Amino acid sequence: MDARDLTVDPEVPHHVFRHVVGHLASGVTVVTTADGSQNFGMTASSVTSLSAEPPMMLACLNRSAPTSLAVSSSGVFGVNILGHGHEHLAQQFAAPSDDKFRGVSLTPGVLGVPLLSDALAYLECRVVEQVTGGTHTIFLGKVVHASAHEGEPLAYFRGGFGRFQFGRDDAVYQVARQRVLERQYGVGEVMIMDDLAQDLDADKASVFYALTRLTTDGLVQRDPDRGYVVVPFDAKNSDEAFDARSAIELGVIDLTIGNAHAEDLVEMRKRFEAMAQLLVGDRFVDFDKYMDANYAFHESVIALARNRALSASFGRLSLRSVMSRSFGATPVTSQEFIRVQRDLADALEAGDAASARTAVLDYTKLAKKRVREILTEAGGLL
Ligand SMILES: Cc1cc2nc3c(=O)[nH]c(=O)nc-3n(C[C@H](O)[C@H](O)[C@H](O)COP(=O)(O)O)c2cc1C
Repeated sequence: MDARDLTVDPEVPHHVFRHVVGHLASGVTVVTTADGSQNFGMTASSVTSLSAEPPMMLACLNRSAPTSLAVSSSGVFGVNILGHGHEHLAQQFAAPSDDKFRGVSLTPGVLGVPLLSDALAYLECRVVEQVTGGTHTIFLGKVVHASAHEGEPLAYFRGGFGRFQFGRDDAVYQVARQRVLERQYGVGEVMIMDDLAQDLDADKASVFYALTRLTTDGLVQRDPDRGYVVVPFDAKNSDEAFDARSAIELGVIDLTIGNAHAEDLVEMRKRFEAMAQLLVGDRFVDFDKYMDANYAFHESVIALARNRALSASFGRLSLRSVMSRSFGATPVTSQEFIRVQRDLADALEAGDAASARTAVLDYTKLAKKRVREILTEAGGLL
């Protein structure tokens, strides 16, 4: 549905409202309070700052939620702003339970509200007014204590959690990444934060972000004595990444063969075709696009399992870096890659587990072999 065509007059249907308002990206908090000896907490994104003088917050909580009733009676609440990596806390505090705080480390606040020790930031508020709006109570609270740590926030957009990123940070990351891929740094060379900041005319926080992300990509590693060192890329790195993907894909075949969802198979085929047309003869039409398309195809194969843990494991493999650093060094490849991946797509559609397994193993063998050839041409190390 095209969001621009949605009719908003005279009354917006519930599902339309949810869809449209989901485009308003927000942070995620856990609102906490204590009533007597019992702690209460609930995930809330309808929380915002209200005024600076006096410092005030507002929180919109469903009237029927136990936490909302507890805030009404205690007259105090804590706003715990969640950081990146706290999805589990957001989920835990969004599900009704008698034991919402299980496994959660707490710090007592000055107003007696339980604060989540790991939160990115928190504010403690005393309720000065409460107003009813639809199904919710809007609590207006005066902030009496607030504290924040360094870190990234957890973001919420269209019903999903994600990460917030400064545009300037991404630009610095892209340039630093390109420099590593183009081998402007020697293997084992240290990337010095101050030099990079000066060279790229960037602030240190952006350079720190870039180096941290390059570490996640597997392109650099943090050495406690030397700093951020460019990781040598060798056959072992390559074999490990391809073998790990192969293990995940074989697992997906076991889980899904014969019962994959039709729409997921359609998506996989679409991504396969998009990838296949980017390899003409033995040359990539556009290497970066091919790499993205290849990643997207394998992502869709793994998505057949509809298992978030498996998809996340795939996302953590440094496959993009393995591919950039090997195939990126020489644009020559072979149609054989497309053929075995087509075999995989065909077998998954046909529900043929044996052929799908053979295709995954063949493709892995082929990729590992080609990277080894490229490495040999480059003298063993890239
Ligand atoms: C990301 C996210 C944001 C939410 N934001 C709100 C909110 O702002 N207000 C609200 O009343 N419920 C919100 N909820 C739903 C509550 O967290 C959920 O109903 C919870 O179970 C209520 O807890 P309680 O009934 O145990 O107090 C949100 C849930 C999620 C996952």
